[in-house]
Amino acid sequence: MKKIQITTTINNKPRKLEINPNQTLLDLLRDEFGLTGTKRGCEVGECGACTVLINGEAVNSCLVLAPQIEGKEVLTIEGLAEKGELHPLQKSFMKHDAVHCGYCTPGMIMSAKQLVDENPNPTEEEIRTAISGNLCRCTGYVQIVDAIKEV
Ligand code: FES
Ligand code: FES
Repeated sequence: MKKIQITTTINNKPRKLEINPNQTLLDLLRDEFGLTGTKRGCEVGECGACTVLINGEAVNSCLVLAPQIEGKEVLTIEGLAEKGELHPLQKSFMKHDAVHCGYCTPGMIMSAKQLVDENPNPTEEEIRTAISGNLCRCTGYVQIVDAIKEV
């Protein structure tokens, strides 16, 4: 298939890319950029493990085709830390023991980031709604909700 050119921003770095038009954003991030913090789970939009932010909005990267990020800003879990300092959400997840196997964690944190960016003092209900698309098999969600609440 003929490759196409796009310009985009990934983790605050402007990029000019030549991509396969039928490639998913998940594949692009993991396979081309080695950004494996974004997890491959169901690949059908049900688990949330692949959640990233596009222009600040949490999306399942397995459901986004790479050409759709033309002109947009993509943020993955690797782009959250600033100057070597973990994001407050990352610190809070560690403090509350909200990371068990860790597979859901990057996606969970990206969904939480959209929430706290838009609503710095969310209620428990709002937190649970924001992470309702992110499945966790380990924690029972209580520590995750507590971690987000404290940020
Ligand atoms: S891998 Fe994308 S939602 Fe499960
Ligand atoms: S910590 Fe294992 S799936 Fe959430």
